[in-house]
Amino acid sequence: MPEITPALLDEIRARFAHVDACPFQGPRVFFENAGGALTLNSVVDTSSKFAAIPDNQGRDNPAAHALVAVIDKAKADMAKFMNASSGQFFCGESGTELLFRMIRTACVNAPKGSKVIGSSIEHPASRSAARRWAEIAGLDYVNVQHDDANGTVDVAAYEALLTPDVAVATILHTSPVTGMGVDVEGIAAAIRRVAPEAVIIVDGIQHAAHGRIDIASYGIDGYAISPYKVFSRHGFGIGWISDRFSTMPHDQLIGAADTVWEFGTRDTGAYATMSDVVDYFDWLGGEVSDATDRRARIVAAGAAIHAHEKRLTDAMIHGTGNLKGLKDMDRVTLIGGVENPAREGLVSIVVDGVPSPDVVTYLNDRGIRTHTRKADHYSGNVLDPLGYADAIRVSLCHYNSEHEVAHFLAALDDMP
Ligand SMILES: Cc1ncc(COP(=O)(O)O)c(C=O)c1O
Repeated sequence: MPEITPALLDEIRARFAHVDACPFQGPRVFFENAGGALTLNSVVDTSSKFAAIPDNQGRDNPAAHALVAVIDKAKADMAKFMNASSGQFFCGESGTELLFRMIRTACVNAPKGSKVIGSSIEHPASRSAARRWAEIAGLDYVNVQHDDANGTVDVAAYEALLTPDVAVATILHTSPVTGMGVDVEGIAAAIRRVAPEAVIIVDGIQHAAHGRIDIASYGIDGYAISPYKVFSRHGFGIGWISDRFSTMPHDQLIGAADTVWEFGTRDTGAYATMSDVVDYFDWLGGEVSDATDRRARIVAAGAAIHAHEKRLTDAMIHGTGNLKGLKDMDRVTLIGGVENPAREGLVSIVVDGVPSPDVVTYLNDRGIRTHTRKADHYSGNVLDPLGYADAIRVSLCHYNSEHEVAHFLAALDDMP
């Protein structure tokens, strides 16, 4: 099993900006990765380099040729990173915008009276798009209720509601509220068995930082990520679409090639940072395995990331050293249960008798950054059925350490 050793963890942390101190607050433990992961130093350098270049792509001059080559390389790198053997990558405004665009396109091309299926576990980015565009396009929306107890949705729940007239399906890869992953491959296969032609769109935004994306194995048509949640930066989203989805009628300039999905001039520097992200996974895979092939190293990195994050969430839940874990703190309830194999680097808790914003403030005052999820339009789908007004989200990444977990547990256990 590939492993992140303490020495390797030091090397990993050296590659990220603001690892243990916030420029606004000072020293802090960063457990707000689901709100935006740390940024690679290489991404910071690349961004500033390209920000200074005035040239546009698509001209016949050396700068334009170089910019196009950078974008082509980034697309090839992302294909390795996400194991996409066909289809295409493109940039948009954000992950949300790309999900809307993909879902809108699938809905307006669906036969009148057909169905859109999705799950209550999804982030409102895909939920809102699917409900809105189903209505506009005259389609029925079918809701697959997630399981409140384990914080995820399974194949059987989709299977129970699948019919041959499903034309569009949405799947969340990992929940940013419960932290639980979803069996995308299994659900997509179940959809294809009943509705082979359905356009299947996946929200991979919360999953991406945890590695292990394998588009070729999923049998899907669309996948969206937000680069700032996978060690790049804010300001853009990345979408992947299958070949058949690429040519489906969509918003574009009249006369442009029918596969073009991008809106206007792209930020070459944004694309270039995705090559930095893939280079990082490649480097990490080389540190934790003997693999020589780039994709094999990326896979090894994903396995090491998952193992390290599981070690950290286990320490958080069960305790570390002589510190009590969350499951043994009297006032604390874990959302999604104690033993949950679907967990991906995130623990959401409720502290009995203390409003979550007060817990988050208390932790912030002790240099530990977490986040309140309120039962609002972002998280109400998960928190309302559980009867919680809010919860505290503690979200980790593979660059976090057991020492940081210990700091958090000690502070929480001390809370008056
Ligand atoms: C699963 C999921 N989908 C969609 C979004 C929205 O992403 P963005 O704000 O980057 O568009 C988020 C953000 O937290 C998310 O976690």
